[in-house]
Amino acid sequence: MRMLPSRLPIIQAPMVGSLSPLVIAVSEAGGLGSLACAALGAEHLKEQMQAIRAATSAPFNVNFFCHTPPEADDEAEARWVARLAPYYEEAGLSLSAAQRAAGRAPFDAAMCEVLEEMRPAVVSFHFGLPEESLLSRVRATGATILSSATTVEEARWLEARGVDAVIAQGAEAGGHRGMFLTDDIGAQPGLFALLPQVVDAVKVPVVAAGAIADGRGIAAAFALGATAVQLGTAYLLTPQAGRSELHRAAIRAGRDDMTRLTNLYTGRPARGQMTRFMREHGPMNPEAPAFPRATGAIDPVRAIFEKAGKDDLSLLWSGEAAALAREEDAGVLTRRLWDDACDLARGLSGAFPGQPG
Ligand SMILES: Cc1cc2nc3c(=O)[nH]c(=O)nc-3n(C[C@H](O)[C@H](O)[C@H](O)COP(=O)(O)O)c2cc1C
Repeated sequence: MRMLPSRLPIIQAPMVGSLSPLVIAVSEAGGLGSLACAALGAEHLKEQMQAIRAATSAPFNVNFFCHTPPEADDEAEARWVARLAPYYEEAGLSLSAAQRAAGRAPFDAAMCEVLEEMRPAVVSFHFGLPEESLLSRVRATGATILSSATTVEEARWLEARGVDAVIAQGAEAGGHRGMFLTDDIGAQPGLFALLPQVVDAVKVPVVAAGAIADGRGIAAAFALGATAVQLGTAYLLTPQAGRSELHRAAIRAGRDDMTRLTNLYTGRPARGQMTRFMREHGPMNPEAPAFPRATGAIDPVRAIFEKAGKDDLSLLWSGEAAALAREEDAGVLTRRLWDDACDLARGLSGAFPGQPG
């Protein structure tokens, strides 16, 4: 059973939009910083990894999506763009500005070559695993390989294909659901239900993810059998996360009941803070083009709204525990999270009613 190479069993979740500064701060503090690569081409991937290596010798994780890109469906995409016409009009933008670009690319041979050259300590995947020929090349680099499971069946599938650890992603989690054997979002279990059942079902270590944002959540995850935790939203207010002011404001204002799963922005369900776009067209809509092709229609008009300081069309990815996120240096946060979890665990034996003090 291979464990994480970092000193602390805390993974900063890969988050598209956060780059090397966050990875460096977390890895230097003893956690496992993660670089999200779905929106980086192979060239930028190498640059980002070089920047991390120049700043720290600590291990880090690089993360990839591994979806199968859909065929372009011009008719469906044109219908989707037409649906967005009122926003284009409001922004004073011609509908012809809508892009057909997909925005998020799956793991491919060019990215694999960068891994073979740079040899990161950990590689994680979302939406299953890449095809076996690519996966075996990643394995040959010696990297520890992780991937997200949102059900027990997905966890078993990943274990059967040789991952070193499974990330159990509860329904509370911010960002895209990693689901790949099901598309039934109503059947996605929360972390308290999912984690112990995945721990019972597989022999590899299990990493817990989903609305863990402080020492209490970490201690609870370990009590349920986790070997490590992965936190995303908790890091969004750190200066190193590099999020937009609009995203930061939404996280600061976050409450337990303010997120929804939506497919409007990319075509796949992802959890984010509620927006006007989600209220008016979703939050789930069967007409959204298949992942990741929904992105191109909204991107240009969203940029204009954002320039005017409006988050009506913004992707405000967030888990259900945004209210627990703190404005703190990412390294300080990493150490404090672990110290708080350890303090809590030490105090727990006296905390059960009826337990002799
Ligand atoms: C802003 C944001 C972006 C994310 N991007 C990715 C990503 O690129 N790759 C990935 O595997 N997971 C991504 N996730 C999901 C995380 O891996 C993790 O499951 C989630 O952050 C855990 O829930 P939490 O945000 O409540 O801590 C993202 C999450 C957030 C909040």
